[in-house]
Amino acid sequence: KLRTGGARSISGGPFFSESPVKLVLVAACALVDADRRVLIAQRPEGKQLAGLWEFPGGKVEPGERPEETLIRELHEELGITVKEACLAPLTFASHTYETFQLLMPLWICKRWEGQVIQKEHQALKWVRPNKLRDYAMPPADEPLIPPLVDLLGG
Ligand code: C5P
Repeated sequence: KLRTGGARSISGGPFFSESPVKLVLVAACALVDADRRVLIAQRPEGKQLAGLWEFPGGKVEPGERPEETLIRELHEELGITVKEACLAPLTFASHTYETFQLLMPLWICKRWEGQVIQKEHQALKWVRPNKLRDYAMPPADEPLIPPLVDLLGG
């Protein structure tokens, strides 16, 4: 079941303006623990969207597949080792910012190696899916919540 939640119409949007719009692909992951809580991470000071809570992940670099991006980013940001076979795609979000169009697929991961440690974020939190709304998120991340609640329950 594929759901986009906050899908937006692009008619009349930047795709039809004079200047080309940059497309940024960000791979994101909902780590799910044994209590069916999901990990969210608070973006660091000094970065765009600082202080907002996001699903871990990052920008897909040229030549990378998004799954490779996630494995790399989850190791860099959280110190864990994830096997590609443990990544299950769930849905995707998109958001039009001033200067770029963000496309953000979300994977689910229930198994990894190592302890989750805070390496790059301000804070980490394990949250029940129906409590995710209590945390201020970037606009692209918010539409990912309902599919998570559907999948994992409240
Ligand atoms: O994380 P990073 O800053 O590399 O992501 C690139 C851009 O994608 C950010 O500047 C932000 O605008 C956007 N982004 C987002 N939601 C996320 C992660 C990134 O909107 N969860």
